[in-house]
Amino acid sequence: MSKGKIIAIDGPAGAGKSTVSKIIAEKLKYTYIDTGAMYRAVAYKVIKQNKKITTPVIIEAAENMELDLRYDDGITKVFVDGEEITNEIRTPEVSKIASDVAKIGFVREKLTELQRKMATRGSVIMDGRDIATHVLPNANIKIFLTASIEERARRRCEELKSKGYNVDQNEISKEINLRDKQDMEREIAPLIKADDAILLDTTNKSIDEVVNKILDLTINS
Ligand code: DC
Repeated sequence: MSKGKIIAIDGPAGAGKSTVSKIIAEKLKYTYIDTGAMYRAVAYKVIKQNKKITTPVIIEAAENMELDLRYDDGITKVFVDGEEITNEIRTPEVSKIASDVAKIGFVREKLTELQRKMATRGSVIMDGRDIATHVLPNANIKIFLTASIEERARRRCEELKSKGYNVDQNEISKEINLRDKQDMEREIAPLIKADDAILLDTTNKSIDEVVNKILDLTINS
């Protein structure tokens, strides 16, 4: 059993990052840190304010928010200003605004600082868009997880349907394409594979295959 390592998983929406990260965290008794949930929490707070969404409104929301992530028993519970919003942050609307708030330097600096603090004790698996390139460049294992757009849209669709949302795969495909483009093209800490990250295409791989590959890399690193 490996102890104390840091695993960074980056990749586009729907690549399977959170699914595999949760399983690996459970197997290694590591803490799973879902950084996307943090950007989603900022987006949720901004939406709830019911104001026109502008950069100053986003900065103000991020500045004054108390964000708490509690990872327990395979579930990341998300709290903003004391309110639990674990399920509320998974809607397509929050996904879209999360990508918008993620462009803003103030938001990224605040969340990056928090993410680095959360990783200081090691035994951590963190997923996101800029973990290997920016948040934890000294991570022991760096993975860039991806899959075809059709497969990623199919997975996202299934996930949302299982939660009771009525969604159309074409719409989801458009939505994640747009979001990935925005995440890849932003100026600060864009979504990009780190030079030293291992590229894993999960299109035709089972969850087990992907998990075992990352476990092998971790144990042998
Ligand atoms: O992984 P996710 O779909 O929950 O992430 C939601 C959005 O948050 C994503 O479109 C971009 C942003 N994000 C980011 O910019 N950096 C991260 N480390 C994680 C997420």
